[in-house]
Amino acid sequence: MEMAVIIFKIKLQACHNLGLIRSLLTTGVREFSGKGKILLMRNSTIIGTGFYVPPRVVTNDDLAKLMDTSDEWIRERSGIRERRYAEDGVGSVELGKNAAEKAIADAGLTNDDIDMIVFATLSPDYFFPGNGCILQSKMKFRTIPAIDVREQCSGFIYALSIADLYIKTGFCDHVLVIGAENHSTGLEFADRGRAVTVLFGDGAGAVVMAPTDKEDEGVLGCVLHAQGEHYDKLWCQAPMSYRSPRVSHEMIDKGEIYPKMDGRAVFSHAIPRFCEAMNEVLEKTGCAIGDVDLFIPHQANERITRMVAKKIGLPDEKVVSNIDRYGNTTAATIPICMVEAREDGRLKKGGLLLIASFGSGFTWASALIRWTM
Ligand code: ACO
Repeated sequence: MEMAVIIFKIKLQACHNLGLIRSLLTTGVREFSGKGKILLMRNSTIIGTGFYVPPRVVTNDDLAKLMDTSDEWIRERSGIRERRYAEDGVGSVELGKNAAEKAIADAGLTNDDIDMIVFATLSPDYFFPGNGCILQSKMKFRTIPAIDVREQCSGFIYALSIADLYIKTGFCDHVLVIGAENHSTGLEFADRGRAVTVLFGDGAGAVVMAPTDKEDEGVLGCVLHAQGEHYDKLWCQAPMSYRSPRVSHEMIDKGEIYPKMDGRAVFSHAIPRFCEAMNEVLEKTGCAIGDVDLFIPHQANERITRMVAKKIGLPDEKVVSNIDRYGNTTAATIPICMVEAREDGRLKKGGLLLIASFGSGFTWASALIRWTM
């Protein structure tokens, strides 16, 4: 298996302080060459997980009272039976906070132990500042860095890969990674919006990541991709900063403030991209699909999940799905599934976990993780 080695170039003048070199060595740098190159050889691993979904359950029949749809249509096309909606005043920060508190407690840490926040969401509380900053204040963290990730359905894996690199390079020990969405305040509850509205739900998942010095455990590899030419196949046009005003009555009347999706394009790109990302991370880490103990796909749509699993050759018992109960919670789907798979005993210490996603952007991503909890 390819060893996780990062060559981090650092000018010797910049580390004239021997103490700095020593502290790098204690935080995971394994070798220091005289040419000013530091070889870093530690992996990151997940040491705590948590999720939160708001209590309000919205069934397909509830939606059928608001728009021309039916339980049968939604279940057949997406596998969704119900989803959760947050109460008024609860945004993605608050949802994320509930998940983060559980993940930090699960890791046996306190907020003071966290060195960085990486917050993935497409539904931030505000245009700016980012959710990470607001969360930092709400959870009374130290003045640690807070990064927002805006890669939609692939947001969690992008965020995980960022945390992984900050840990590998020794800049951080404990990184809080969150995926959280409040979709329900941004959906159109009318016939015009039905194709998108029925798919999405609110929720949050979080993990705490930490270093491990074992090269064959934790995050073994990540793969990230984007293809922006498809940006308008699944997007929300307004408010936008290239128009003044950023939102107008006309935009609202035209429905530009609601997400739009070319469902067939999403469907036809999702299946090959999921499979490519999965094969790529397996190849990169020298593993085979038969080695995988559990597959957690982004919960886009049950039909997509089933087709991907079939194409790649994974039996149903190795595939996690909870879209029937939560709908598509975008950046939150994978960490929510992680918690549930731990709870039902399917995600076990030593198991090989494959995660993959595809979504708006288009973006797609995967990671292979040797589970250590
Ligand atoms: N209820 C009832 N009818 C609906 C609904 C609804 N909620 N939404 C659309 N329809 C209608 C359409 O208007 C259309 O009516 P028409 O024939 O009179 O024009 C009819 O149903 C069929 O529409 P199609 O788009 O042809 O339906 P299709 O069988 O292709 O399925 C779907 C649509 C489910 C969106 C499909 O394209 C799909 O699964 N796409 C993948 C999209 C997806 O899952 N996205 C997830 C979010 S993105 C992500 O996470 C990656």
